[in-house]
Amino acid sequence: MADSTLFVKKSITGLQEEVGGESHGLKRTLGAPSLVALGIGAIIGAGLFSITGGAAANNAGPAVTISFVIAAVACAFAGLCYAEFASMIPVAGSAYTYSYATMGEFIAWIIGWDLVLEYAVGAATVAISWSRYLVKFLGYYDIHLPASMTLSPWTTATLPDGSVVHGMINLPAVFIVVLMSLLLIKGTKESATVNGVIVALKVAVVLIFIGLGWGYINQANYTPYIPTNTGEFGAFGWSGVVRAAGIIFFAYIGFDAVSTAAQEAKNPKRDMPIGILVSLAICTVLYILFAHVMTGVTSYTSFQGADGIAPVAVAIDHMGEVGLNGIVTPAFPWLNKAIIIAILAGYSSVIMVMLMGQTRVFFSMSKDGLLPKIFSDVHPKFRTPWKSNVLFMIFVSLFAAFVPSNVVGEMTSIGTLLAFVLVCIGVMVLRKTQPNLPRAFKTPLVPLVPILGIIACFAMMASLPGDTWLRLIIWLAVGFVIYFGYSAKNSKLRNDKA
Ligand code: ALA
Repeated sequence: MADSTLFVKKSITGLQEEVGGESHGLKRTLGAPSLVALGIGAIIGAGLFSITGGAAANNAGPAVTISFVIAAVACAFAGLCYAEFASMIPVAGSAYTYSYATMGEFIAWIIGWDLVLEYAVGAATVAISWSRYLVKFLGYYDIHLPASMTLSPWTTATLPDGSVVHGMINLPAVFIVVLMSLLLIKGTKESATVNGVIVALKVAVVLIFIGLGWGYINQANYTPYIPTNTGEFGAFGWSGVVRAAGIIFFAYIGFDAVSTAAQEAKNPKRDMPIGILVSLAICTVLYILFAHVMTGVTSYTSFQGADGIAPVAVAIDHMGEVGLNGIVTPAFPWLNKAIIIAILAGYSSVIMVMLMGQTRVFFSMSKDGLLPKIFSDVHPKFRTPWKSNVLFMIFVSLFAAFVPSNVVGEMTSIGTLLAFVLVCIGVMVLRKTQPNLPRAFKTPLVPLVPILGIIACFAMMASLPGDTWLRLIIWLAVGFVIYFGYSAKNSKLRNDKA
């Protein structure tokens, strides 16, 4: 068999030796708690605080809680597959490297290139939501940034006087991307410490919301639990619940980012599965409770048209006593401001982990010769891939500044789902081709779990609009040009084997 072809594979044992020592340049500083925190840091963000309300109002009603369960099950299948790989091949390249070892270089390239959609474009998506919350927060203090400087072109805002303003550039989104990139350059340990503090704050806010809101749940808001379908696919009824699962899937993205920190983990074989699965489990429980409270304190119809900040604020405003006139006196007027501060901090950590994941994947691809060396140059003092951080700072800033949030959000989801599908396939392939390799963690019930993972992720991909598929295809086509123009010629593995 000629193995200097498109489908040349890396040897797993070679990979394990490659990362066994410290020679790869990255510093091993993260233990299991830091990895779990890294996961939660990446997971809880815009999906929960911004997207849930819209999915309830337009697709699922109170049954958005069921949508959270459906998306969680799909993520759990993929998470179990990630955990097997991450414990067996603990390298920074994550899904990219797993595919290199199982399905060959070309598929690995596709996945590495595709992960840019998850990590870099995902970071831009959250940066855009961050900007909206900042504008809202400053508004509480009568500070009003010009709308043209806080929105991307093609996005409009209606001012209080009724006039419509067009966006030009989203500067706050650029600001947060630059800030998080600089922090990452400084060091993984410092970043992990900041992340730990933010995660504590973010989880506290979610718990406070659930705890305070629970007492104000009005059972009447759960009737009907699944509003009748309007006749259009995805607008309520069971099709709406599934469409909402595809939309709020964004909220779960991030647990897989833990696997990109494998070379910075102290004991990756044991701690990678813990980081991935425990962070996913904690967030699943929090999300389901959050959605239950959010749709219980007020009718799902109150979230209509409420994008950005509104869903959470609307729910909080409905936690209170209803007067004889039917008007609610909010019991916790202070909570809105506090929650926005936590959300601003919380989104920062999502952006940070996403940016970190991105540079680590390109680090591995560059080490393999598939991308220029600049992506694996490590700073002599900070030991972080700083040049790559700077390049992605520019790339992500451009997306955050100029592209509307729904476009980047759906690109993130489709890219991530494709990566999940390939990881599930990879686990099955490796069980067949290398059944005896030691696996510190084994995905249960193979091939059932990976097959269900593939079906669930593919169903969610299918629920995304046609334009998003087109963008995915264009993105992959650009990737093919780079692969055949540069990577195939410079691939270390192919050159070694030729
Ligand atoms: N899961 C992350 C979020 O919701 C990407 O922001």
